[in-house]
Amino acid sequence: MIHIDILTVVPQLLTSPFSASIMQRAQDKGHVKICLHNIRDYSTEKHKNVDDYQYGGGAGMVMSIEPIAACIAKLKAQRNYDDIIYLAPDGKLLDQKICNSLSLARNLIILCGHYKGIDERVREHFITKEISIGSYVLSGGELAAAVLVDTIVRLIPGVLNDESSALSDSFQDNLLSPPVYTRPLEFNGWKVPEILLSGNTKAIEKWREEKALERTKERRPDLLHE
Ligand code: ADE
Repeated sequence: MIHIDILTVVPQLLTSPFSASIMQRAQDKGHVKICLHNIRDYSTEKHKNVDDYQYGGGAGMVMSIEPIAACIAKLKAQRNYDDIIYLAPDGKLLDQKICNSLSLARNLIILCGHYKGIDERVREHFITKEISIGSYVLSGGELAAAVLVDTIVRLIPGVLNDESSALSDSFQDNLLSPPVYTRPLEFNGWKVPEILLSGNTKAIEKWREEKALERTKERRPDLLHE
């Protein structure tokens, strides 16, 4: 069971990704508890502001430290956290290795940024890991948080029906997955590879390994050199 607290100014962006399919089932079965916290609820300002102009001038508002610090303090009083993660385009690029390691955590805080960024002192004093989901800029960290949580939760034992399924995913073992087929046997004259119908499990396994390697060499040769 992993407990995940997500801090955001737009919790609505995160309700649907966690309320269907595998993510909802994982919560129902008690494998994960996901709590959304609206940073605005921790603002002591009259208008519940959570951002301000940046010192030194420049366009764009910056998220203030006070409400974020107040929310983190409240959470830390309730449990010990393995990591406090900030999602940002200048964080470490997310890969399967990071997901595997985070899936072993008990308690995580995930902070979603917005506007021009957050006061650097939050990053310096509270954040233990900074993660980017790709070399592009999102409007906020929420969609990145949904991606990160999905990658972590599906790795918790018992979340996927077929236990071996997460282990045979692309990127585990630094290999992409081989192609897969289902019925019909033939569509528009396009046939399923003969070997998959042979019933020879050894030969099928070998074919899958070859295809996985071939695909990785072709599409992601960088994975083979990691
Ligand atoms: N926030 C904005 N862009 C992001 C990205 N690429 N990854 C994680 N968080 C982000």
